[in-house]
Amino acid sequence: MRTGRKRLSGRSQACPVDERRRGRAIMSTATKLLCLRPADPIRLETRRTAMPRPGKGEVLVRVEATSVNPIDVKRARGYGQRLLSHKGAGKFPLVLGNDFAGEIVSVGAGVSPWRPGDRVMGLVPTGRKGGAHATHLTVDARLVRTAVDGVASAALAAFPYTFTTLWLALRGAGINEGNAKAQKVLVHGASGGLGQLALQILAAWGASVTAICSTANIELCRNLGATAVWDRTRCRLQELPEHFDAGLNFGAWEDEATLIGRLRHGALGYVTAVHPLLGNIDRGGLLAGAWRSRLDWRRMQSLANAKGARYRWIIFQPDEGALDMLHHFLARGALTLSVGVSVSIDNADLAFEHVANHKQGRAILLPMGALSS
Ligand SMILES: NC(=O)c1ccc[n+]([C@@H]2O[C@H](COP(=O)([O-])OP(=O)(O)OC[C@H]3O[C@@H](n4cnc5c(N)ncnc54)[C@H](OP(=O)(O)O)[C@@H]3O)[C@@H](O)[C@H]2O)c1
Repeated sequence: MRTGRKRLSGRSQACPVDERRRGRAIMSTATKLLCLRPADPIRLETRRTAMPRPGKGEVLVRVEATSVNPIDVKRARGYGQRLLSHKGAGKFPLVLGNDFAGEIVSVGAGVSPWRPGDRVMGLVPTGRKGGAHATHLTVDARLVRTAVDGVASAALAAFPYTFTTLWLALRGAGINEGNAKAQKVLVHGASGGLGQLALQILAAWGASVTAICSTANIELCRNLGATAVWDRTRCRLQELPEHFDAGLNFGAWEDEATLIGRLRHGALGYVTAVHPLLGNIDRGGLLAGAWRSRLDWRRMQSLANAKGARYRWIIFQPDEGALDMLHHFLARGALTLSVGVSVSIDNADLAFEHVANHKQGRAILLPMGALSS
């Protein structure tokens, strides 16, 4: 992967120091990681910008860690551009990233209870303002939660985006703590970020989870709570029993009809995160792409409905309830997501490469690392 990077060479070059609070420099400029244009190899560059100021209801956060997810790699290559442009989020250069862990620097009008110095984690919506791949960002104070004590920012930042999507998926499938016990749940893409969180939560709720993954990840899925593991590289999905109460597809849209076919009659629900909505619109434009997606959705919905199951497509969006639940699980030490690589933003290409090559473990950027190296 080639990158058009502008290296930061040290703290002195980074920013003038206005004052010191809590022993830390208050910067007058921020650094953002820009994705320059839709391309493969991905084109990334760091750029200095004016320090953002928190508006009413916002906090300014010094980002200590932020994650690179599959959607960031796809968007960097142009995926989703046509639909996201309608939200003001498709225009390059783009700042990607949907979550972060860090420290509050200042708060806007009407914000409580946050104070400068609070350690937090949070979510950034996909929108006009740009994402979390930066040294500093302003964010709606409602999308911030207290960082869990004893968990490093690099570990925390792996969670908010992935957990929120997973939480929306569980909700979409109609699975909750109250009804999960003894339910048979099929999870495709079980060894990925969404899948790993699904395994841990569903196992904790007493569900019986069948994980679909490739050979190398069988042990990982077992260790995270799968009751059975199906090696997708050796066994056909059609041979899975037709007895599942719910299905979560985090693996591949191509397998959608087959997986729905594995639900039992009277099943609860089925959810996919790997639907073709954005891809259809990229290929066909807004109207034709939306129409194509409606046909795709209707076809799968009728298969699910024939089993008595509800059918949903998940689209990530910030969710305060999900953030509350994330804090709840993390505070109990009940969730893990291994980090495969963590690098400063001036080495962001390594993190994007890690995700693009489907390597195990999450990819984390350490924006302030760029300033202190
Ligand atoms: N709709 C949304 O808003 C939304 C939000 C978040 C994520 N997503 C999408 O959901 C998917 C999962 O996200 P993630 O963060 O968990 O990704 P991830 O960490 O990259 O994991 C995906 C897993 O899927 C499996 N896989 C890869 N290629 C596959 C294929 N052709 N067929 C079946 N399984 C395959 C891989 O495991 P094995 O090789 O072990 O099977 C991989 O670990 C990604 O495609 C992501 O873009 C969508």
